[in-house]
Order: sequence, then C-alpha cells, then structure tokens
Amino acid sequence: MVKVCVIGSCAMDLVVTSTKRPHAGETVLGEHFSTVPGGKGANQAIAAARLGADVTMIGCIGKDIYGKAIIDNLISNNVNVTFVDSKSDVDSGTAHIILAEGDNSIIVVKGANDHVSPSLVEQAMDTIKSVDIVLVQQEIPEDTVSYVSDICHKFEVPLLLNPAPARFISKTIIENATYLTPNEHECAILFPEYTTSEALRKYPNKLFITEGSSGVRYYNGEQEILVPTYKVDAIDTTGAGDTFNAALAVALAEGNSIEASLKFANRAASLSVTKFGAQGGVPTRSEVEVNL
Ligand code: RIB
Repeated sequence: MVKVCVIGSCAMDLVVTSTKRPHAGETVLGEHFSTVPGGKGANQAIAAARLGADVTMIGCIGKDIYGKAIIDNLISNNVNVTFVDSKSDVDSGTAHIILAEGDNSIIVVKGANDHVSPSLVEQAMDTIKSVDIVLVQQEIPEDTVSYVSDICHKFEVPLLLNPAPARFISKTIIENATYLTPNEHECAILFPEYTTSEALRKYPNKLFITEGSSGVRYYNGEQEILVPTYKVDAIDTTGAGDTFNAALAVALAEGNSIEASLKFANRAASLSVTKFGAQGGVPTRSEVEVNL
C-alpha cells in the first residue's frame, strides 16, 4: 500500500441545481439545495484512500458544524486526520456551487484553509519524509505551497502539484515539483511565455495538461501523447480533476508507467462524474480496475 500525504483545502460544498444560470442582476428559481463535503485537498485525500492508498491529510477546519462534518467524513473514508487542525476563530471553508446548463460555477470562501501554514506542515515533517508522494493544490496560501515544494525537493519526496485554482507560481515551485497537472487555462497562466507545445517540450514526463473530455496531453521526450478519456454520461463534473490527480498520484507512486498511470487516472475521473457531488462518485480501486 503506497503512502500519500495531501496538503490542501477542506470545505463544505453548498450546491444548488438549476436549469438556468442567472446573469448578473437576475434571480432564477433553483431546483435542489445540498450540502456535501468538498475542497480540493479533502477530495483528493478521499479519492486516494478509496483507491487503496494509506493517506494523511494536512489541512484546517473551523470549530463549526461544517468542520465536524468534514473531519467525520475524512475519518470514515480512512484518512489520517492527525494534522487536520481545528481553528476556533475562523469558519470552515465553503464552496458555493451552481450546477446548471451541464456545468458548474464555483465561488470558494477559503475560511480556515487560509490557515494551512508552513508551521502546520512542519509539524508533519516526519510523515512527509516517509510518504511515497505528496499532493498539493492552490486553495491554501502560496507560501505554504512554496514551503511544501522546498521540503519535498530537499528530502527527495515526489511532489504532484495540481495548480488549481489558477494563479502565478514561482519558477522555483515549478522546478521543485515532480509532476504538474494544469488544465489548458491554468497552463497558459503558468507558462505565459510558451505555447502549449513549447511548455510540454520543456517539461517532458512532468507536465500533464488536462484537456477536459479529450484526455490528457504530455510529451514523452520524443513525441506528444494524448491519453484519451473515457466517454460516460456525466451527472456532475465537480471534483473530477481531484479524482484524476489522486488516482495519478497513487498509480505513479506504485511505480506504474506514466501512460498506464494516466489511463488509470482518466478511468477513475470518468467514473467520478457519474454521481452527484465532488466525492459522491469517487470510485474504489476495484471499480476502476474492472472498467480499465
Ligand atoms: O475541485 C472541486 C472542488 O473545488 C469542490 O469540491 C469545491 O470545494 C472547490 O473547492
């Protein structure tokens, strides 16, 4: 069983479904409202655990009803929460999601996730040194992501950086990361000086650009490869990227080839969108393998 450490956000997703997305200044009548666990970090931790990894989460929640639900959910999915800090003076993170017209719109209120600090990460140093791979995203402060990249580089722990949501990243963080998984939009922000093809050639076997329903593109040192995704009837695409990243991390940590790992990750992500909620459709290991 590979060991994975996820450093990132925990949130409660407040989801409204509607047939129509409102324009600015417009009110529309929605259909359903649900609260379901989310946050890119927690989604990735739970996905990695369902896919068979031994997972430790480093994150922050508020001492509120959402915080309690978030931590209970992590525990019930076999995620080690020793380093999930419960803060008394801030609210848990929330994501305000509209599901309409076949896609989602999300506003994230970071809340406690803004308190995922380098000093919290430092408390988990022994764990980080002992894992097979670290996963980090960008719903936590940039100085924490920078610190994580430094220690992973120093202690030679593979680091998968999922640069979402998009923001500028220093060249040092990019160089320190073992794997980078932007979508096309994030890639353009990460590498404004390069075309997609140039960026891929600069980072062979490291940069994996997700292209939605087309698949994932990378450069293997000789040619660009597009690993196609699987066609499914999507119910809710929220969190598909998180399942993809978790599955990719698990498969790579297990020593699988890049192409096989991307295929596994695409399969896991495609299954994740067949149910409602960021974590609702996250598959188990056997559900992915039976469908590969
Ligand atoms: O990646 C999906 C996640 O992004 C949602 O669960 C929501 O919490 C937002 O942070």
